[in-house]
Amino acid sequence: MCPALTRWISSGRLVVSACVRRHSSITTELIDNMDKKATWDRFYAESSSRTPTFKNFEWFFGFDVVQDFIMPLLQTKSDMDAPVQVLDMGCGTSALGPCIYRQSPVPVHVTCADISPVAVRLMQEHVRAKAIQPHNLSSKLRFVELDCTQLHEHYGSSSVDLIVDKGTTDALLRSKEGKGKAGLVLKQCLKVLRSSGTLLQFSDEDPDARLLWLETEAQEPGVMAADVGVQEVGELRGVCYYCYEVTRRPVVQ
Ligand SMILES: C[S@@+](CC[C@H](N)C(=O)[O-])C[C@H]1O[C@@H](n2cnc3c(N)ncnc32)[C@H](O)[C@@H]1O
Repeated sequence: MCPALTRWISSGRLVVSACVRRHSSITTELIDNMDKKATWDRFYAESSSRTPTFKNFEWFFGFDVVQDFIMPLLQTKSDMDAPVQVLDMGCGTSALGPCIYRQSPVPVHVTCADISPVAVRLMQEHVRAKAIQPHNLSSKLRFVELDCTQLHEHYGSSSVDLIVDKGTTDALLRSKEGKGKAGLVLKQCLKVLRSSGTLLQFSDEDPDARLLWLETEAQEPGVMAADVGVQEVGELRGVCYYCYEVTRRPVVQ
């Protein structure tokens, strides 16, 4: 099990990113069920009820730690005719999507999607109250309730430039019944990504395990193919984090 989660259970505190919050009802049962909508609805409802004012919750770390992996990609994927289509998959109540929207000099359409309607509603209310303004006035930001195992119902094939996944695949892979869903989500990502579009997974899973999984799951002869790579994000509180980069390439028939 990942060290962050071990600490989460053993201390009765949720220790992720710089934020440390009291979390009385965290149990292994919850971790086993991290692929379930009801688990996350409860998590976000309990988190928000504990603080009078809204505070973003960040799994692992916030935008500041990962921006150098994301922002240069926006430039390379930008063409003058259309905004860069970005999906924060399993956004929760993270500030990642809003930060991309606020800071991108190139026009972006950022969709923050989550299976939990509670998280989606909290974020919608938050950005409305904050009236966040984009760097580029053509940029757009939206929050949608969406099960990422069914991305193709919301996106056309080859329509997304960049998908960011901070902790979502980790949650699926670590839950009792989520491994199949994680594979499904990866295949859905590759389906909706444009040729040369990129999926970034931020994770604390060791490259020995994750690269093998990605390389196996991301290839479907004659249907899809992808290049897989990894970079180290860095060490935080004794845990090493990685950025896995999956880039869709055109299938050569
Ligand atoms: C570990 S949290 C990460 C949240 C956020 N990305 C962050 O960095 O704080 C995993 C998130 O994935 C969402 N999730 C789980 N299964 C999902 C699915 N099938 N489709 C969309 N979101 C899902 C959960 O609701 C939760 O918000």
